[in-house]
Amino acid sequence: MSQVERQEHWQGVYTRNATDEVSWFQMHPIVSLDLIHASDIQPEDRLIDVGGGASTLVDHLLDSGFRMVSVLDIAGPALAASRSRLGDRGATVDWIEADVTTWHPSLQYSLWHDRAVFHFLTDPADRAAYKTALNHALQKDGCVVIATFALDGPERCSGLPVVRYSPESLSAELGPSYRLEQVEHEDHRTPAGRTQRFVYCRFRRLLLGGE
Ligand SMILES: C[S@@+](CC[C@H](N)C(=O)[O-])C[C@H]1O[C@@H](n2cnc3c(N)ncnc32)[C@H](O)[C@@H]1O
Repeated sequence: MSQVERQEHWQGVYTRNATDEVSWFQMHPIVSLDLIHASDIQPEDRLIDVGGGASTLVDHLLDSGFRMVSVLDIAGPALAASRSRLGDRGATVDWIEADVTTWHPSLQYSLWHDRAVFHFLTDPADRAAYKTALNHALQKDGCVVIATFALDGPERCSGLPVVRYSPESLSAELGPSYRLEQVEHEDHRTPAGRTQRFVYCRFRRLLLGGE
């Protein structure tokens, strides 16, 4: 899938569907929040939700007192929905419309969160580009939380094929500069009532990483 096709796909998804009707919708992203809080991140630290779409995670992060929150997504309509939902509260958020595989971060973050984005990267070149962006954006000793469909999760999401991961295979993808510190599983209930098995992994970037 080319970058143009990818952007058209996701813009279409958020134009045609209500944000609380898409299969990945969560009112309370509890597992993500638990993993973020477990990373010892402080309110003044900078964090980014990559492929955040119209997720309510940003609302909960603001509620928790985080002041330096960025949300990146390829689909402008998704970001617009979150801005509109947050109203004035959204003014402090750094909204970034970009494809993560071609994004050039200009800031360093203490925490990178990705729920259900990396697993769409079926082409190794796209995964390499994602990791380049991650390595530029994440400060040494920072944390990365990645949630993907688990090995017994669905093979497709939003009509697109995905790569399913175990903690071991996700660790192998990130390489030795990232130490796996926490694993959680979630049986996500979609708005249509189906169950999707996710695996969430929290890694810490090592101070002496070679990447
Ligand atoms: C399954 S949704 C998950 C949204 C959100 N993380 C959540 O948990 O509610 C995948 C999101 O990733 C975005 N996305 C897909 N590919 C992307 C890419 N290459 N760069 C940035 N965002 C991307 C989509 O627009 C969509 O919002």
